[in-house]
Amino acid sequence: MIETPSSAASLATPYRTHTCGALRASDAGSPARLAGWVHRRRDYGKLTFIDLRDRHGITQVVVDAGDAPEASEVAARMRPEFVVAFEGEVALRQPGTENAKLETGAVELQVRTATILNEAKTPPFYINDPDAQIDETLRLKYRYLDLRREAMQRRLLLRSRLVHAIREVHHGSGFVEVETPNLIKSTPEGARDFIVPSRLQPGEVYALPQSPQQLKQLLMVAGVDRYFQIARCFRDEDLRGDRQPEFTQLDLEMSFVDEATVMDFVERMAIEVSRAVVPERALLATPFPRFTYAEAMERFGSDKPDVRFAMELVDLEPELRGTDGAAASGFRVFDEALAGGGRVKAITVPGLADAPRSRIDELTEAAKRFGARGLAHLSVEASGSIKGPIVKFLGDDLAERLAARAGAAPGDLVLIVADTTAVTNDVLGRLRAELGTQLGLADPDVLAYAWVHRFPMYQWDVENGRWDATHNPFSGVVPEDEVLLTTASGDPALPTPDDPAGRARAMQYDIVLNGWELGGGSVRIWRHDLLERSFALQGYTRERMQNMFGAMLEAFEYGAPPHGGIALGIDRWAALLSYQVNIREVMAFPKTQSGSDLMLDAPSEPDAAQYAELGLRFVGVPTRPS
Ligand code: AMO
Repeated sequence: MIETPSSAASLATPYRTHTCGALRASDAGSPARLAGWVHRRRDYGKLTFIDLRDRHGITQVVVDAGDAPEASEVAARMRPEFVVAFEGEVALRQPGTENAKLETGAVELQVRTATILNEAKTPPFYINDPDAQIDETLRLKYRYLDLRREAMQRRLLLRSRLVHAIREVHHGSGFVEVETPNLIKSTPEGARDFIVPSRLQPGEVYALPQSPQQLKQLLMVAGVDRYFQIARCFRDEDLRGDRQPEFTQLDLEMSFVDEATVMDFVERMAIEVSRAVVPERALLATPFPRFTYAEAMERFGSDKPDVRFAMELVDLEPELRGTDGAAASGFRVFDEALAGGGRVKAITVPGLADAPRSRIDELTEAAKRFGARGLAHLSVEASGSIKGPIVKFLGDDLAERLAARAGAAPGDLVLIVADTTAVTNDVLGRLRAELGTQLGLADPDVLAYAWVHRFPMYQWDVENGRWDATHNPFSGVVPEDEVLLTTASGDPALPTPDDPAGRARAMQYDIVLNGWELGGGSVRIWRHDLLERSFALQGYTRERMQNMFGAMLEAFEYGAPPHGGIALGIDRWAALLSYQVNIREVMAFPKTQSGSDLMLDAPSEPDAAQYAELGLRFVGVPTRPS
């Protein structure tokens, strides 16, 4: 069932000589004691067969009423999930009854004595049926039973191997594993904080870390040089399949580095870890492709492109402009988009030329949901002729040139969006991702890592009249763009939307795996003057800056080395390595969509005494009757 990394001997205990996954044909004739859970019991009159299970495997146990009448009586009382122990002799199974699916399938234990160690209620779902469709609420409420299922055991083990491999590579590469505290002050990463009231300082709260960001930077000031941690992070944000309120990061930081040093190390680490944990899965490309943010958006319409398949975005503009440069395609939507400084781009979907009207309508609806005003299309028929409602505006010749530019072959469907650059890229990027999945274009066995870097440093926050860091406020600017930060257009302390800093690119990189953002990081601003300027652009007053990041700003005055780092989501990594689309499947005890722990019934109301001790009173929520 599950591979056992340690030797069988080291797993022997007073209850067992072997685990349920250990016995082989070579053990035949030896005595053995086994303990585990009753997976299945079959009665054949004089003979009782029990499949005995632990996390290492399943062993067949046979109780013969003729040879062991007492054991047979005990076995008759055993039910699924009882915890039991047997003692007897290992024997080869009768020829023809071996079970090739079990590693122990050549042998059985012929029992002399049987013991019920602990009884079990009938579980609320089948633990021994791998195909059972079990309601997730039930699975989460009885997670300890859900985790007994083979699929869940496999994932827990994969995750354990993942963390082990990560630790090995880091320890072998000069990193120091340091634990940072969970009761801290707010470290913003774009979500809300979870806060913890303090008993010793009534009226004050700790924040749980959204990440160890500030602390790891302080460790660089402390001279740790290379730090890593398997760090628990807490973010109060809306949950999705790839987000939990409490999750785990591989968090690391390195001193005296530039972008390439961090990316090169993380890439080598990711390759070594992937090969150690899932050696059977192919890595699409090494070195990993590196796209600038601008290139990723232009080619894939996404900053987390799935590069297992092509279907890249194609710019149709060169075909749409006349010799005088004016947009004159004959189709108003295209011409207006171009005249307004927007874009007309396409993706070519293989084999969908004959899609029925309803399918095109679905795609159009999806495009609208993603923010487009509409979706145009051209179908390349088997004969090579181009069909579609817009051909009458474009004319056959231009329609053919557009299809050719989009790289469409007979049988393909060309989907076209005309809008602002941002909307065009985003909508086509989402359609590309959705169609890639629907049409099975991405090989599920392949691991396609890629880098996206050089993100814009800031985006303008219209509502609050300031620049927002696209990553975190400590990301550094690429050296060529430093001048954009130092030449303010007006008062350097006042952010304006036309500040040249808006064009600056950050030394920021994301690592992407099969279309998911796996991790993100940056080389930091470690120079005091640039840090102050960056904070000013982000609208922080000196006082607020001091209040939020005082310790770090002060530390930076005591000799901060150039440094940078990254954090990778361990839950996402484990999910992608085990073919899951929801990180709940690789977390032992995850929360529901609404942030509840159904097993422990959390969150729950504080005790009456806790209200008093913490000086707490909830307003605006109904109090439960005591
Ligand atoms: P960032 O916020 O990009 O960066 O987070 C890094 C990675 O953590 C994972 N992640 C999550 N996983 C599950 N549930 C969540 N709610 C969740 N939020 C994030 C993702 C993500 O890529 N301090 C910076 C890192 C740095 O700059 O060094 C940070 O936390 O996989």
